[in-house]
Amino acid sequence: MTNEKNSKKPLRSAHSYGKLDRDGFIHRSWMKAQGYPEDVFDGRPVIGICNTWSELTPCNSHLREIAEFVKRGVWEAGGLPVEFPAMSLGETQMRPTAMLFRNLLAMEVEESIRGNPIDGVVLLGGCDKTTPGQLMGAASVDLPTIIVSSGPMLNGKFKGKNIGSGTDVWKLSEQVRAGEISEQEFFAAEAGMSRSRGVCNTMGSASSFSSVVEALGISLKYNGTLPAVDARRQALAHVTGRRIVDLVKEDKPLSSFLTRDAFENAISVHAAIGGSTNSVIHLLALAGRVGVDLTLDDFDKIAGDMPLLANIAPSGEYLMEDLHYAGGMPALMNQMGDRIKKHAPTVSGLTIGEQIEGAEVYIPEVIASMDKPVKHNAGIWVLKGNLAPNGAIIKPSAASDDLLVKKGKAVVFEDIEDFKARVDDPDLEIDEHSFMVLRGCGPKGYPGMPEVGNMPLPQKLLEKGVRDMVRISDARMSGTAFGTVILHVSPESLAGGPINLVRTGDMITLDAKARRLELNVDADTLEKRAQENAKLPALQAPARGYLKLNHGHVLQADKGCDLDFLVGKSGDEVKRESH
Ligand code: FES
Repeated sequence: MTNEKNSKKPLRSAHSYGKLDRDGFIHRSWMKAQGYPEDVFDGRPVIGICNTWSELTPCNSHLREIAEFVKRGVWEAGGLPVEFPAMSLGETQMRPTAMLFRNLLAMEVEESIRGNPIDGVVLLGGCDKTTPGQLMGAASVDLPTIIVSSGPMLNGKFKGKNIGSGTDVWKLSEQVRAGEISEQEFFAAEAGMSRSRGVCNTMGSASSFSSVVEALGISLKYNGTLPAVDARRQALAHVTGRRIVDLVKEDKPLSSFLTRDAFENAISVHAAIGGSTNSVIHLLALAGRVGVDLTLDDFDKIAGDMPLLANIAPSGEYLMEDLHYAGGMPALMNQMGDRIKKHAPTVSGLTIGEQIEGAEVYIPEVIASMDKPVKHNAGIWVLKGNLAPNGAIIKPSAASDDLLVKKGKAVVFEDIEDFKARVDDPDLEIDEHSFMVLRGCGPKGYPGMPEVGNMPLPQKLLEKGVRDMVRISDARMSGTAFGTVILHVSPESLAGGPINLVRTGDMITLDAKARRLELNVDADTLEKRAQENAKLPALQAPARGYLKLNHGHVLQADKGCDLDFLVGKSGDEVKRESH
């Protein structure tokens, strides 16, 4: 029971399984209740498989099977695999929003990894908030770590055509409201949209982040795009199981891959795939955990000008399955030339440059070249101004070009209930030139910053044929959504942001190309409004539980919405025994 890695320092599992005393007896004996023979405690690396499988998270519901393939690889490489559950965050099922619980998952994963006798970890996640939450928690412990994502579901099919998760829900629901399709047709699309397990088949938040994970170098290649039900994803899990054992032996913690260069690659790739705005929040939070100096402005500086190469909905026409058949992330990254920092290491043992070298594009309609991109300037743009002093973001690849520079009259909604109650009121004074402003939807205010920023358009304008308008909020939007939507206005209204001072009828100037967002109201008037607001009864803070913790500690969107006391890491050391 020597438990050694590279014959240098002992494995952390040796503190439990390598002891010959009463403590060692306790740690081993209860594990033997599962039928392990004596020699699995011979000092081999113990690999935790952190699984967010759940039937309430359909996108992750096949991860029990995927875990079995990871275990094959771990056994084969001479490790001991141990699977453990973590809170699963089903984006389509949890209320008020899965994002509220991302940090709770991160806390659970961090303490589960640190508290248990494991030497390395494979994270199994996929649905939007599961992977970021797991990764943040793992980063604060910093063991060798590899991710295997759920993978996208098969292309949706309806009436002989492809339909994409989320993206076509928003389109179909607007078509029903505009009277263009029947309710029966709308319901018929439900089953055809979700034809297999796996994450949304568009470039939503889940596939954006699994692609970003590949670009960060913390998964094996093709993790971003291999369909969930493709046998090759099972093989990827198998090889990951082998590889994590090597990574423990090589003593390569997660932080050895999560460098500033890796984040820059992730941001560039995120732009080239037209990735979800949610990734901005998650990458900022992750950088905070590992101590990489990354700011909201960096997204625009590094990749604001990056062309869109992936022709995938919602920014393009195809779906994730097509992106894989076109060559996946290696082919896409290979197109990016020197926009990829090729020396960045990956968990495969190769640099990212070596990993993507020679990767071919098989379907140029799906993966475009830098010379002939799907769109120009697809990266996240960061807007500043007196309406968003700490920043707001827009995803230009999903916006209408003719709305990016515009002045409009604000129509203000106090919260999402106010919006739902009034948006379809025929008497609402609103036209296609108005700017819809929604507040009360930030990380504290909702709470949890829901995906409601892509407000549905008023029925009377839909009937007129209007399909996009400028929308501004302190909310997020689904990665599958589209439109000229300005999100993550920071600070949020409940944290005293100026978005709280906007009144219906105010003029707002949007100049996204100059990165400006200004409320055209003079400072004296704004000051007067702030004093009037201060006299209103304050919103009651949650009295107990996790909501109280979130309310007291959640950071604003420009800082990644982590809880302030979770920023940074505590490492893997545990000083005391359990008995
Ligand atoms: Fe789970 Fe889209 S709802 S990935």
